[in-house]
Amino acid sequence: MKGIVLAGGLGSRLNPLTKVTNKHLLPVYDKPMIYYPIQTLVNAGIQDILVVTGGKNAGEFLRLLGNGKDFGLQHVNYTYQEGEGGIAEALGLAEFFADGEPICVILGDNIIETNICRAADDFRRQRKGAKIILKQVTDAVRFGVAEIKGDRIAGIEEKPKIPKSDLAVIGIYFYDATVFEKIHRLKPSGRGELEITDVNNFYIEEGTLTYDKLEGWWTDAGTFESLLQANSLVAKTGANKMTGSAVQALSATRVE
Ligand code: DAU
Repeated sequence: MKGIVLAGGLGSRLNPLTKVTNKHLLPVYDKPMIYYPIQTLVNAGIQDILVVTGGKNAGEFLRLLGNGKDFGLQHVNYTYQEGEGGIAEALGLAEFFADGEPICVILGDNIIETNICRAADDFRRQRKGAKIILKQVTDAVRFGVAEIKGDRIAGIEEKPKIPKSDLAVIGIYFYDATVFEKIHRLKPSGRGELEITDVNNFYIEEGTLTYDKLEGWWTDAGTFESLLQANSLVAKTGANKMTGSAVQALSATRVE
């Protein structure tokens, strides 16, 4: 499975912090923000990684990450998104890199306390369709929100005024190769973006979307409040922790 970190967009909600740098290069406690999603992928046994970036400071990613030595990687791939046409537009730029393989996509501002090893292993076995990860939140209006019926997701609404549940869709997604054909069918939303929620709803219509629930905390870091929260959560408990079962699963993946 290949990994894709989406770090495009202009980070306008964090102005003026993002006036002279890219949001994903801002510090979260003791590391630049982008370090956390990359580590999440590496902890799930994913070594072949593409960083999609954009804006005026894209070159800084290369200076910061190089070939990924800090993460034990030998190489990092990069591509460039012009403007901020949405998460699904940024993902569309990864079609050539994915080359027909299953992918794990993570938003560059998503930070988790634990790991995604269980979901990654389940998706390796699932092979077809997609998998998303849910987390119970108190402010669901800020996110994609899943409606659950029985053991399946019936639909996802992007930033609903009246959420149908308190289960947010976190910014970590697993897709098979048909994701790119789905992205080609998308139309821009009311906010002028190609929405990842529309992609996930295509998989729901097909009946191939599964989900997992995340253990430990999750936060994004794209607003002043959530950036502050990310800093304090990482400072208090640390991020990307590997539990016993995850370490075992990771060594099994590496042997494969
Ligand atoms: O954090 C989880 C949420 O992320 C999900 O619950 C929502 O369903 C999903 O739409 C997304 O919502 P946000 O409004 O928080 O997304 P935002 O525009 O802040 O973008 C999140 C990251 O995606 C950003 O840090 C970089 C990447 N991105 C975003 C856009 C708009 C790109 O790479 N290119 C883009 O054009």
